[in-house]
Amino acid sequence: MKIAVILGTRPEIIKMSPVIRELGKRQIEFFILHTGQHYSYNLDRVFIEQLNLPPARHNLEVGSASHAEQTGKILAGVEKVLQQECPDIVLVEGDTNSTLAAALASVKLNIRVGHIEAGLRSYDRTMPEEINRVLVDHCADFLFIPTEKSKAILRKEGIDEDKLYVTGNTVVDAVKQNLKISKSKVSVIDKLGVQYKKYLLMTIHRQENVDYRARFASILEGVIKTSTTLDLPVIYPVHPRARKMMTEFRLRPRSRQIILTEPVDFLEFLQLESNARMILTDSGGVQEEACILGVPCVTLRDNTERPETIDVGANTLAGTVPDKIVECSKIMMERETGWNNPFGDGKAAVRIIDIVEGKA
Ligand code: UD1
Ligand code: UDP
Repeated sequence: MKIAVILGTRPEIIKMSPVIRELGKRQIEFFILHTGQHYSYNLDRVFIEQLNLPPARHNLEVGSASHAEQTGKILAGVEKVLQQECPDIVLVEGDTNSTLAAALASVKLNIRVGHIEAGLRSYDRTMPEEINRVLVDHCADFLFIPTEKSKAILRKEGIDEDKLYVTGNTVVDAVKQNLKISKSKVSVIDKLGVQYKKYLLMTIHRQENVDYRARFASILEGVIKTSTTLDLPVIYPVHPRARKMMTEFRLRPRSRQIILTEPVDFLEFLQLESNARMILTDSGGVQEEACILGVPCVTLRDNTERPETIDVGANTLAGTVPDKIVECSKIMMERETGWNNPFGDGKAAVRIIDIVEGKA
């Protein structure tokens, strides 16, 4: 049996890392194909190095481009590698352009595809990720699903029951495998000059939020108001998409309460998340990690494909209007934090590879 692991962006590297480790542990023949969608050191190599992952055997180096161009380049590049390598099964994760193009190239060569983190839906078709995840789910042969709620969605969409496997989300595995190590690392909290549990952590990078000046400005205003109202500073590691748009729109937040940094590595980010008083974000992975780590979360979007976080009381949807962001933040500051983690027990990768081995 030969497995191809195809990935291309920060969250795919992080969420695939437990799967790659498990493949290595069992000495299964596999290789990594990196699409090169993310290429800056702090969005890419830092994670490969820090998580001790083997280097990618192939890197398509597609870089940044429009959706069609990026997806098309990945599609053609993945096809070439797969024709050369002839794997039995391709594993993809999540909902990026890399995920979609890799899955599509594979099924067209009649290579079976396993989709990790299947069945998530925001029901917002204006999000590029929503289109990607729907299409990947409908062409995959094995759907590795984080929760029963997502399984119900896939059933309703008519996907064969025998393709559906509830495994939990590998993000829990990644957090569990790295949280302890992150605690032994030099404190990024001290380095940034804030105090434990006395700061807010913010990330924002979604196209629909940062690519529109009015929306981006409104979110920043809401976060500054929240910081002033709660009298807590905000740490904001800025994703390159947001950095680019902030410069283009001349939107750099003036408040001294907002501490901007470059994106940080996973161990530092786990420190920042686990010690934050509250997290404000539009990231999918960060909503999950806040929930797993017991930190209240305010989501700066109108919808989420992670409704489990809201069901357990860990998260709320604030949208992008400043006063609503402040109001939701005040509510979440009062929230008891003893909720259950809905995303599994940290053994998702073991289950996924058990299934893959059984199917090979
Ligand atoms: C992509 C995914 C998104 C995911 C995110 C994770 C799609 C459609 N979007 O969004 O679902 O949440 O990754 O972070 O696949 N850039 C750099 N360095 C890099 C990569 C990008 O500077 O290594 C800058 C470029 O200016 C680029 C912009 O960021 O144009 C956007 O990059 P892109 O990969 O198109 O989308 P993301 O916003 O990163
Ligand atoms: N992350 C990180 N450093 C940062 C910001 C995020 O390591 O500065 C990690 C975070 O822990 C999570 C993942 O990146 O595992 C989330 O990725 P992102 O927000 O880019 O994408 P999404 O999850 O929204 O697709």
